[in-house]
Amino acid sequence: MAIIALGYLGVRSDRLDDWSDFAGRLLGMQKIDRGGKALAFRMDDRVQRLLVSDEPGETLAFLGFEVEHKSDLQFYAARVEAAGIKVHPAAPGLADRRFVGDLVWFLDPMGNRVELFHAPMIASDPFVPGRPIDGFRTGPLGMGHAVLHVQDIEVMMPFYRDVLDFHVSDYGLQPYGLYFFHLNERHHSFAMVGSGQQGFHHFMVEFQNLDDVGQGYDIAQQQEGRVAYTLGRHTNDYMTSFYANSPSGFFVENGWGGRLIDPATWEPHETHDGPSFWGHERLYLTEEGGRKRLRDMRLDAAARGRRSPPVPDCPWLYNEIAKTGK
Ligand SMILES: [Fe+2]
Repeated sequence: MAIIALGYLGVRSDRLDDWSDFAGRLLGMQKIDRGGKALAFRMDDRVQRLLVSDEPGETLAFLGFEVEHKSDLQFYAARVEAAGIKVHPAAPGLADRRFVGDLVWFLDPMGNRVELFHAPMIASDPFVPGRPIDGFRTGPLGMGHAVLHVQDIEVMMPFYRDVLDFHVSDYGLQPYGLYFFHLNERHHSFAMVGSGQQGFHHFMVEFQNLDDVGQGYDIAQQQEGRVAYTLGRHTNDYMTSFYANSPSGFFVENGWGGRLIDPATWEPHETHDGPSFWGHERLYLTEEGGRKRLRDMRLDAAARGRRSPPVPDCPWLYNEIAKTGK
């Protein structure tokens, strides 16, 4: 019984032409022409990972989380109903539009649409990226991660942790609650920022090749206002990434080299290093609006010698290091 990955994601936007350029030419996803008004994109062998629907709002439309067994749909539907939230079966045609065998959906306590699905369709033709890249790191790790702004973290945290069984990876409490959750070996597939705002903060896709992030960074720097965070490295998932402003205003993190964890032995813990070892300068913030504070945090982390371990991708080693405290 488990929710095992972030499988797909939907965005509502009036700016379909901009999304076509952004997801195809900058991110390197494969645009699928289905003739309708929505834009669909592939990232791998699945028929669909990102859907941009021509609806107003410029925000997240839905998050699609994959369950391990078909019976998990009913299991979690019952859990969510018991928490006082109405769960809807898929209306006729919805599972076909999502290219999955079956799904249920509900609105989480802050009104975000969550879809739980089973049996995604695999494409018969190979993935063809929108620019020359080696592809995305997906498979059992899912499509990446999604991060929400939340108004009331005291309600949202227990809902995702206790009702949906999302596992806390780590959390920061200053200046407000920031919780990261894993569903598989990816350090986090989902996170929430208790900023008191409502909305979509970002989603992340992970590239197989660092050069593909760097070449995307070059493209982004040619576009006025496209880079939101400069290239940098995160302290908790060790992701090397930059953040782009999407056509809808939220960010898309372009990452490489994220750590894998061992969910069987991982212990949730508080973090104190701030978000980045280096880089990730917040170009979208004013100096006094948070940019300086975040820069000072990473300069402080660097001055204390904080950095990732030398082997970027070895759960066994991380556990050995954690055991010895070195
Ligand atoms: Fe991220």
